[in-house]
Amino acid sequence: MKERLEELEQQSEAEIAQIDDSAALETYRVKWLGRKGAIAEIMQAMKDATPEERPVIGQGANKLKKAITEAIESKKAEIEAQSASIPTKTIDFSLPGRRPNKGHLHLITQVTNEAVEIFADLGFQVAEGPDIETEYYNFDSLNTPADHPARDSHDTFYVKPGVVLRTHTSPVQMRTMELHQPPVAVIVPGRVYRVDFDASHSPMFNQLEGLLVDKDITFADLKGTLNHFFHAFFGKNVKTRFRPHFFPFTEPSAEVDISCSVCVGSGCRLCKNSGWIEILGCGMVDPEVFKYANYDYDLYSGFAFGVGIDRLALLRHSIDTIHHLFENDLRFLEQF
Ligand code: DAH
Repeated sequence: MKERLEELEQQSEAEIAQIDDSAALETYRVKWLGRKGAIAEIMQAMKDATPEERPVIGQGANKLKKAITEAIESKKAEIEAQSASIPTKTIDFSLPGRRPNKGHLHLITQVTNEAVEIFADLGFQVAEGPDIETEYYNFDSLNTPADHPARDSHDTFYVKPGVVLRTHTSPVQMRTMELHQPPVAVIVPGRVYRVDFDASHSPMFNQLEGLLVDKDITFADLKGTLNHFFHAFFGKNVKTRFRPHFFPFTEPSAEVDISCSVCVGSGCRLCKNSGWIEILGCGMVDPEVFKYANYDYDLYSGFAFGVGIDRLALLRHSIDTIHHLFENDLRFLEQF
């Protein structure tokens, strides 16, 4: 029996040396110390042993049990120390990194850039002017007399007497002509301001002004240029319609409608069932304006136009209210 105990001791030592995880260690514990384990079997066998043998077997079994218990404890500590030093989740170095949120240009900026590019391809240059403008450039020099309704404080934001938030980009026409002699071909994107607020009007909005002055410029040049622009911007299928109108700084003047992009002419809420949407004012530069610019109006002629950039954006994307453009709601802006 003594040899048997020694054999078991060696076997238990050899087995535990192989173990390196806690599941295998538990199996080992059950095998040696469990109710039906090796130690229990020896205790069972003691019943059949002679009275002399019993204490020897008992002592041997206890010694073995103690050795195995200690071996299990130290193995357990070893396994725990090891797993603490190894990260539980392995890192996948092939995964792409986290990209920072980049953002993009506002829809108005995108549309402005696109419109400017179409005119730049035709040879127009970009000009700019101040948002805070004198009444002279905003009204007087554009042949808009003091009693014109546009000058009423119900329509215009006055900063102080004689100074306004510009109501249109047209004052940059005069600022350009004062600096340059013909030929002149400029495009003027910019913010403008009016006392106006409803679903399709905002107190601040964006316009794109155009001015071309040279010898022998006719209404046909104006029509051809604008038709080219609308086809380039909205596609070849868009139709345009020039309606006679009045502007103090052009003669003759016209408003331009384009066929409704939502219902394609059949009539809807956006176009108020007419199939057409007003988008632009234009005309041949009035000789009175040339007088303010000191241009020789017998030698030169020109055309001018002003188009609402916000309108272009709304129509392009069938957006129903202008205010979405200025509320900075990312759920809206991220769609474009
Ligand atoms: N400035 C006008 C407006 O805001 C639009 C306009 C009409 C501009 C005719 C022009 C033009 O240059 O020739 O209503």
